[in-house]
Amino acid sequence: MAFEDKIKQLLDKRAEAKLGGGQKRIDSQHAKGKLTARERIEILLDEGSFEEFDMFVTHRCTDFGMQDKTILSDGVITGYGTIDGRLVYVFSQDFTVFGGSLSETFAQKICKVMDQAMKVGAPLIGINDSGGARIQEGVNSLAGYAEIFQRNIMASGVIPQISAIFGPCAGGAVYSPALTDFIMMSKENSYMFVTGPKVVKTVTNEDVTDEKLGGAMVHASKSGVTHFVVENEEEGLLLIRKLMTYLPSNNLEEAPLVPCSDPIDRLEDALNTIIPDNPNKPYDVKDVIHSIVDEGEFLEVHRNYAANLVVGFARFNGVSVGIVANQPNYMAGVLDINASRKGARFVRFCDAFNIPLVTLVDVPGFLPGTAQEYNGIIIHGAKFLFAYGEATVPKITVTLRKSYGGAHDVMSCKQLRGDINYAWPNAEIAVMGSSGASAILYASDVKKIESTEEQAAFLAEKEKEYNDKFANPYNAAKYGYIDDVIEPRNTRFRVIRALQALATKKDQNPMKKHSNIPL
Ligand code: HXC
Repeated sequence: MAFEDKIKQLLDKRAEAKLGGGQKRIDSQHAKGKLTARERIEILLDEGSFEEFDMFVTHRCTDFGMQDKTILSDGVITGYGTIDGRLVYVFSQDFTVFGGSLSETFAQKICKVMDQAMKVGAPLIGINDSGGARIQEGVNSLAGYAEIFQRNIMASGVIPQISAIFGPCAGGAVYSPALTDFIMMSKENSYMFVTGPKVVKTVTNEDVTDEKLGGAMVHASKSGVTHFVVENEEEGLLLIRKLMTYLPSNNLEEAPLVPCSDPIDRLEDALNTIIPDNPNKPYDVKDVIHSIVDEGEFLEVHRNYAANLVVGFARFNGVSVGIVANQPNYMAGVLDINASRKGARFVRFCDAFNIPLVTLVDVPGFLPGTAQEYNGIIIHGAKFLFAYGEATVPKITVTLRKSYGGAHDVMSCKQLRGDINYAWPNAEIAVMGSSGASAILYASDVKKIESTEEQAAFLAEKEKEYNDKFANPYNAAKYGYIDDVIEPRNTRFRVIRALQALATKKDQNPMKKHSNIPL
């Protein structure tokens, strides 16, 4: 074959591979409002940066007439490219080829990019849109999944792993995204479940749709499986680019420092009056977050799940931090099972990837009740506590208002190796609130008083006494549990100074195979 014919052969093969399952299936993908696997990669990566691997791979199955149905790339596009100039590895499942179903060779392609991402220390982004195991390949497909799972596990805590779900993701296939750090789902067309509606109907006789069983909003608000929900795929891919700006490429690096033009000593007078006089009145902790971080920019994670705890990424003087904040606006900011799970997972991610933690505390305690106890609040609360206690990244805590009981200890207190713990002047750091405390301490005295008015007056006086003594930050500051009581409007500056001081912090845990976090 002449040289120019060989070039033509190459170009023809490339063109053939780029058509995936063919124009008809591409049109059908578009008709559903979905992008193709390659279009998704184009939006995700810097223009022209994508280098593709294994375009000429085909499956090896000879059952069910599959030997006559080979398609170049075999249903998954893999390779590397850059996001804002930083190297990332990607795989993007191609629904137009056998419904994006996973064959032995499909899995090998994914494993190749996973292995290389680990060797060079670059994040892995997986775009999922698949009918699951390739039915014609049987057990080889299951083995392929397990090869991927094992790599997901080994990569956990070494390189960031991000999963986008832009189509079906069902059966055991859900477990690869579930092993990664962040899951994103598009509102339309995406669903995740271990067993689909038909199996559900057979086993439990429940009638349920794909969306009701495993749609984006279900996983965002009920199960907490997904961290981000987006209106459409483009928004999702751009959000992944944004998320990447807060993350290091691997666990040996730090997140990129972003030039900051927001003055570090910016005073926010509104913070001096943001806390209502009535301790039972709520306010929005996100207002506090927005007013202290660089340019007011906060990338919230798990926004629709356990809204009583707010977690997400922001920057202080260009340094990426993880923010964890109780939200008085929702269930008074109480800690419950879901908030504990959410907080623990986020704290551990930040710690694994050298992202300092800034904790804003306004917590009345743990949520009481049989539902919480029966479902293991003890274990889940312990998980959150464990995550903070185990974390060795810089930990800065600012107590805005309440910090009561066990929840005080959980929220990055001094004894859980909180490095710099500040409190606002209106902070209340105590075992419990004044009314609960007085009711217990003076129960027998109250019984001796006959009229209910006099009882109420007696208790009000005792509550005041308790408040004067304990419902302030100075009692904790007296013992050095709080390093300083700061003016709220100066919080941004004090946090930035603390981060600067802690930039070279070194701390470590004892050598062990791994901890036994209460899962
Ligand atoms: C092979 C598959 C396939 C699969 C879809 N296709 N799923 N081929 N293996 N798992 C093919 C279809 O035959 C069809 O081919 C094309 O992909 C598009 O599928 P449609 O059904 O036309 O698309 P749609 O109507 O959008 O439905 C999508 C779907 C449905 C909901 C995903 O295809 C479906 O239910 N597929 C089977 C899902 C499944 O049971 N998978 C196994 C799960 S168990 P043509 O040629 O017509 O275009 C599993 C175990 C993993 O995954 C275990 C890991 C531990």
